[in-house]
Amino acid sequence: MMISHQPIGIFDSGVGGLTVAHAVRTCLPHEDIVYFGDTLHLPYGDKSVPTIQSYAIKICDFLLKKHCKVILIACNSASTAAYDLIKDYVGEQAQVLDVIDPVVTVLAAHYTHANIGLIGTRQTVSSRVYENKLYALNQTIHLKSLATPLLAPMIEEGYCHNKITQSVIEEYLHDPVLENIQALVLACTHYPLIKDQISQFYKNKVEVIDGSVLVANRLMQLLLEKNIKNEQKKQGEVHFYVSDYTDSFSQSAKLFFQDKIQLEHCLFEG
Ligand code: DGL
Repeated sequence: MMISHQPIGIFDSGVGGLTVAHAVRTCLPHEDIVYFGDTLHLPYGDKSVPTIQSYAIKICDFLLKKHCKVILIACNSASTAAYDLIKDYVGEQAQVLDVIDPVVTVLAAHYTHANIGLIGTRQTVSSRVYENKLYALNQTIHLKSLATPLLAPMIEEGYCHNKITQSVIEEYLHDPVLENIQALVLACTHYPLIKDQISQFYKNKVEVIDGSVLVANRLMQLLLEKNIKNEQKKQGEVHFYVSDYTDSFSQSAKLFFQDKIQLEHCLFEG
């Protein structure tokens, strides 16, 4: 049985999921959070489905040991490759949320007949997960997707605000696939860290859709529906774990969570 004082487990390959964790923290400040960044294995976006699935299962075991009531897959690539598997694996032990469905719901509600661009990892883009989910909802949205594999490793390295970043972003966004779009979906949780540069490229004329707040709102709904929202009065605690200690993770975690960060190194095999 899940109870309200259990923590929310959030994971990603690295710093990307911190954008989601931050939105969760803002929306649900009384929840305790256990964050896992699989820095040893990043980037996920270029790995095969079975490989990502095997990482995801180990992380779920870890989060279940920490008694998480929810496992939030704060990574599009892992959501694409492993959501169904994780749901089956976790069963009744915890609720499982991905970062794709909340965005698809908003696209379906507000962007019918629109020309929408999407950028993400190779894994997310080649799976056509967004297209398939929209199709299943009978939506006539023209989605034009482009894999942008250099972005996540670059952001993970802490390269967000320099000339290299600028030229990589420009090179990708000039791709003819993304011509004449009205909005651009950031289908990788790392990309909100360069959202300003992307908006500037479009001179703020293209809406840039960052799913993190949508995901946090969906999580809040779920907690209320299942009656497992933490009603404690004090601010929740956040614990960070990584499979490999990196300075850039520690820097980004500090950027998002000003409070004192305790980064714990957790050894996984393989
Ligand atoms: N942040 C992740 C995503 O949303 C993974 C990026 C990566 O590790 O390649 O896809």
